[in-house]
Amino acid sequence: MPVDAIDFHCHIVPGADHGCKNSEVFQRQWKMIQDANISGVVATPHFYPHGDSVASFLKRRAQGVEKMKPHLSEASPLLYLGAEVLVCPNLQNLPDIERLCIEGTNCILLEMPFCAWTSADLESVRAIRDCGLVPLMAHVDRYVASDVLKLASLGVAMQVNATALASLFRRKNPYDFLKSGCVSAIGSDLHGVETYRKFLKAAQNPAVETADISAKSRILLSDATPLTL
Ligand SMILES: [Fe+2]
Repeated sequence: MPVDAIDFHCHIVPGADHGCKNSEVFQRQWKMIQDANISGVVATPHFYPHGDSVASFLKRRAQGVEKMKPHLSEASPLLYLGAEVLVCPNLQNLPDIERLCIEGTNCILLEMPFCAWTSADLESVRAIRDCGLVPLMAHVDRYVASDVLKLASLGVAMQVNATALASLFRRKNPYDFLKSGCVSAIGSDLHGVETYRKFLKAAQNPAVETADISAKSRILLSDATPLTL
């Protein structure tokens, strides 16, 4: 019986970003994901708008997917293709930005900048939302609560990383975010062959179950088209 959980944030496409450098790494990652017996996983290679184009990103991702296919099977968890898009001013004007959504959906995983956010960054998120896409904000547990409140005021969906929930030392924010109802997804943010056990532990965390994350994640993926072999 699969664990009713979807990993919404995972770097497993070989050669598509620094999270998975080749097929060998992917095979080890996929073994861990299969062993976790979860219902689905969204592959989200990094997309950096200043150093890439949507066309070249999609080409690189497609080449990586071809390397993945021989190792997938009908019994594998459902695999969805997306991106983790770094927010910058005017991101909403990036040509073909909608093609970075999880395939079949209008849901786009957005990562806020590493440095202090500007009003222009937040305006980009608002504009992307207003043009009909559904922003899902990556790993909000990484940011201070006052900044996350700014995102919450935009009414966007949020994703929490498993590491923040699986920690022995409970950090307050992720639990507050879950209680507030704004979190719709959890993710492993898997890079390389670091352990996958934390994702499974987070998926079975009572706070995640109480917040009904699985149901919210399924809604985000209701029109999604998983990869077919
Ligand atoms: Fe990531």
